[in-house]
Amino acid sequence: MDMLEKKIYFIGGKGGVGKSTTSAALALLLAQKRKKILLVSTDPAHNTGDLFHRNFSGGKIESATENLDVLEIDSEQESRNYINGVKGNLKGLVKATMLEEVNRQIDMAASSPGAEEAALFDKITSLILRNTQTMMLLFLTQHRPDIQSGS
Ligand SMILES: Nc1ncnc2c1ncn2[C@@H]1O[C@H](COP(=O)(O)OP(=O)(O)OP(=O)(O)O)[C@@H](O)[C@H]1O
Ligand SMILES: [Mg+2]
Repeated sequence: MDMLEKKIYFIGGKGGVGKSTTSAALALLLAQKRKKILLVSTDPAHNTGDLFHRNFSGGKIESATENLDVLEIDSEQESRNYINGVKGNLKGLVKATMLEEVNRQIDMAASSPGAEEAALFDKITSLILRNTQTMMLLFLTQHRPDIQSGS
């Protein structure tokens, strides 16, 4: 499918406004209209499984109903995967004697503010690019005033 034909919905807002309910209902409605949907939760306190009476906690894309897949992203795990990927890429590029220090610097960067969000962004980008059959992706986002205000 052409990237330009994909529709991506971001469902956001502050606590308790109805993000989970709206995204699950919208995903279900669109799936019933025979659109192929991937519902992605980026909320650290996932509850998509509760809404579908299922357990989606494995970090893998699961089928919820016909035309509707669900993924609950574990951002801490994604962050670890991302950092391990960076370390793996650098392993062949730096001298063995420098590797320990390079890894130490990467670990320091990994614990800095925004690192988890960068990993999450990387995961979301790869989901958009890889899910060629998916017509729509719904991202259930958690309100992060600390990031959105830039503080
Ligand atoms: N359109 C609506 N009309 C009335 N009540 C609603 C509506 N949408 C959601 N609710 C109710 O509001 C409450 C909060 O909804 P929901 O859990 O979807 O919000 P949320 O934004 O995902 O919350 P959180 O920030 O805690 O993740 C729930 O009890 C839900 O049943
Ligand atoms: Mg919610």
